[in-house]
Amino acid sequence: MVTNAGFSPGETNRLPPHISSNTLGSRNTAGRGLRGQVALVTGATRGIGLAIARALAAEGCDLIVTGRDQAALNRISRELARRGKTAAKIRILSHPSDVRDPHSVDALFRAIRRQFRRLDILVNNAGIAQPNLPVDKLPFPVWKDVLETNLDGMFLVTQAALVLMKRGGSIVNNLSVAANRVFAGSAAYNASKHGALGLSNTLREELRPRGIRVIGVLPGAADTDIWKTLWPEAPRRKMMSPETVARAVVDSILLPANTTVEILEIRPSTGTL
Ligand SMILES: NC(=O)c1ccc[n+]([C@@H]2O[C@H](COP(=O)([O-])OP(=O)(O)OC[C@H]3O[C@@H](n4cnc5c(N)ncnc54)[C@H](OP(=O)(O)O)[C@@H]3O)[C@@H](O)[C@H]2O)c1
Repeated sequence: MVTNAGFSPGETNRLPPHISSNTLGSRNTAGRGLRGQVALVTGATRGIGLAIARALAAEGCDLIVTGRDQAALNRISRELARRGKTAAKIRILSHPSDVRDPHSVDALFRAIRRQFRRLDILVNNAGIAQPNLPVDKLPFPVWKDVLETNLDGMFLVTQAALVLMKRGGSIVNNLSVAANRVFAGSAAYNASKHGALGLSNTLREELRPRGIRVIGVLPGAADTDIWKTLWPEAPRRKMMSPETVARAVVDSILLPANTTVEILEIRPSTGTL
């Protein structure tokens, strides 16, 4: 579903493209610091991705929200469009896509090119966990699904996005604390996130000359549906909210373009669950 709710490009000649003049003054009072920027959030149908999409909308971003659940996408794009009516209007494109499938990713980017022609912010967030199983009990299809979603998906979406991104852009890769440490029983998840950290670090070096920032986000436990797969009885009250992670992500994007939060490790104050 496509909602056209107005558009204002918000760029200035003197500031980097993703920073409007009110961003550099008071972050706490600005609130529309990304006005006119175009952001794609994968895995935006729930959890951390949805929280990031809402936070970017609050900063005035035009948004592309994607995931596989068409009904959820319809609901979310209606919600975001309603928010846009109470403040400056934003454009929202919701388009289903499976990040594992090159054809599906290609169709998503055809829609983005038609509607927006450019991309300023890419949030690679789509991801899945695995049931808690040791390597000798882990079915190969589960291994493959986790790697294809968390690692191949990030590669496919990033490769398609780079054509549309220019100086001042930001790529946010939602990794995990499992990107630089391991949890027994989560080999596929650990491997996918270690790989995605390697991809993110490589990408950051390749994109420095192009002035595109790469922010690797390493969250600890956040209270989302992903835990239903890994550990259904996990103590939710000890977890961060997805909104807290989203706030840290958007605050990192709002920093001046000459500054990159290269790794954002954010965990519950009590530590590992
Ligand atoms: N929650 C945590 O404690 C935690 C900690 C560290 C890192 N993370 C990372 O945060 C990211 C988001 O997870 P979450 O906790 O918010 O989980 P979640 O609530 O289960 O959300 C996962 C999102 O990914 C999307 N998705 C899954 N497979 C997809 C596919 N093949 N193609 C497109 N979209 C797909 C889902 O949408 P559809 O089902 O509609 O496709 C959904 O929007 C993941 O990368 C996860 O590894 C989470």
